[in-house]
Amino acid sequence: MNAIDLLLGRNSAPRVCEPAPSAEELDTLFQAAVRAPDHGRLRPWRFLTISGEARSKLAEVFVEALLQRNPASTEAEQDKARTSPFRAPLLVVVVAKQLEDPKVPAVEQLLSAGCAAHSILLAAQAMGYGGVWRTGDNAFDGTVMRHLGLASDEVIVGFLYIGTPARAYKPLPVLALEDYVQQWP
Ligand SMILES: Cc1cc2nc3c(=O)[nH]c(=O)nc-3n(C[C@H](O)[C@H](O)[C@H](O)COP(=O)(O)O)c2cc1C
Repeated sequence: MNAIDLLLGRNSAPRVCEPAPSAEELDTLFQAAVRAPDHGRLRPWRFLTISGEARSKLAEVFVEALLQRNPASTEAEQDKARTSPFRAPLLVVVVAKQLEDPKVPAVEQLLSAGCAAHSILLAAQAMGYGGVWRTGDNAFDGTVMRHLGLASDEVIVGFLYIGTPARAYKPLPVLALEDYVQQWP
């Protein structure tokens, strides 16, 4: 697929099903990810893949985290937390490191990890797969971070839910570039 067509046609696939990318295809996705622009070559990212039965463990973690955040949460809210990892055959947790560096502030490392996440989704779409980037409370939850094994200088940039698009892609919005692009001065 032509790179410009891919960029212009980028679209999230919020509903995905089996199959997920194969192990070989995943290697390509992650090779794309680690080509993210990266000030100082700090490689301030890492990626956790969660699929199959491991999603049940993540479901337990999500429920535990919800109960800690909100002990009065309803059964419906707990069910939603429990089922959310099963929205896709593969989850990729994109983790940003926040390394101390005299030249590269933490926000730049976060941006680099965000670029890596974007590349994963673009590469997945180029291969005929699809996915969506989600955060929500779980991405900022200490219990979730602890269970996922994050270090104290790491944060979750997002959960990428990846699989085969289960529905047609939504129409792409047409944005008026003059709202976003100005010539200066
Ligand atoms: C950092 C980040 C976090 C996001 N978190 C969520 C989320 O928790 N739930 C959600 O529905 N969409 C979330 N989104 C937005 C979707 O990934 C997606 O971009 C949005 O639904 C618009 O669709 P589009 O990407 O096809 O334009 C997030 C996007 C980013 C960049």
